[in-house]
Amino acid sequence: MVAEAPTVKLSNGKEMPVVGLGTYARSADPGQYSEAVESAIEIGYRNIDTASSYNNEEEVGEGINKIIKKGVVTREQLFVTTKLWNDRHRQSDVVPALKESLAKLNLSYVDLYLIHWPFSVNDKGEEASIDYIDTWKGMEEAVKLGLTKSIGVSNFNEEQLDRVLTESMVKPVVNQVEINPTLTQHKLVDYCIRNSIIPIAYTPLGLISEARPEFKGLDDIKTDPKLGEVADKHGKTRAQVALRYLIQRDIPVIPKSFTKSRIQQNLDIFDFQLNDSEMAIVDGYNIDHRCVPATKFAHFKNYPF
Ligand SMILES: NC(=O)c1ccc[n+]([C@@H]2O[C@H](COP(=O)([O-])OP(=O)(O)OC[C@H]3O[C@@H](n4cnc5c(N)ncnc54)[C@H](OP(=O)(O)O)[C@@H]3O)[C@@H](O)[C@H]2O)c1
Repeated sequence: MVAEAPTVKLSNGKEMPVVGLGTYARSADPGQYSEAVESAIEIGYRNIDTASSYNNEEEVGEGINKIIKKGVVTREQLFVTTKLWNDRHRQSDVVPALKESLAKLNLSYVDLYLIHWPFSVNDKGEEASIDYIDTWKGMEEAVKLGLTKSIGVSNFNEEQLDRVLTESMVKPVVNQVEINPTLTQHKLVDYCIRNSIIPIAYTPLGLISEARPEFKGLDDIKTDPKLGEVADKHGKTRAQVALRYLIQRDIPVIPKSFTKSRIQQNLDIFDFQLNDSEMAIVDGYNIDHRCVPATKFAHFKNYPF
């Protein structure tokens, strides 16, 4: 058991723990998702991130419900996020899509529902012409029905956020985007914070993790002695320093791990502090490199990058 993460207040007054468990995996063995979720909650996590496109909502829900049944936590103590996929962007599809997610999760509500990407696709995989402002109206209905406590977006750029802010009744509380030491995103983060939108860092370990062998050659950060020295000084790992760096920039993180010791490690980041020069060292690794460029959608009008 590690101390629970502190929470941040969203613009609608709800509290969100600043460390969550990411659950996306290219492949997983049966039971791996639910075990990771159970372990994480036993260890002290109170925030779990999934998405309809991860095809794991049943297992994630199984893990959550098991641990609630065991009496480790109540549903109210947890913060559960899921996301709307690109093929359900029609306004009238949003509530039914969320109801399907809730049925899979076996929950009566989620804490946060996100539009996963700003673009929509049709059943042929081509870009559909649905405006994310229409999608957002469906998201607002989901809040009214009590199916989600909060709504937000993911992978939106400043211009897209501007439109949602101007044209909506309920404001997005978060923008979940890739942020890590090699993609520091200062401009977008500043924009979000200025507009009371919490930026959440996905893929927070970026090129530090072994998960991105395709970017070999860009991953000095795995071995560079400067980061090693910072980590050693605090008795922490490179991964913990990267997560701590994001937390000190007021950016909540959702690292994914299915390995118990790493799940534990990724929450154990609240007993040390990086000083200004250490923050600058981590920041210095920025090469504006995206681990998740979604290039398959790069020709879409609403592609955000
Ligand atoms: N909104 C979006 O479009 C979007 C896109 C991508 C991701 N996400 C969300 O963000 C979550 C996290 O992103 P991600 O999974 O892409 O990347 P990540 O969390 O930065 O990295 C995960 C990888 O790092 C390894 N790892 C975990 N902890 C470690 C540690 N302490 N030391 C070394 N390696 C460690 C994991 O391996 P083991 O499992 O073997 O420990 C896994 O291979 C996802 O799971 C998903 O929930 C959202």
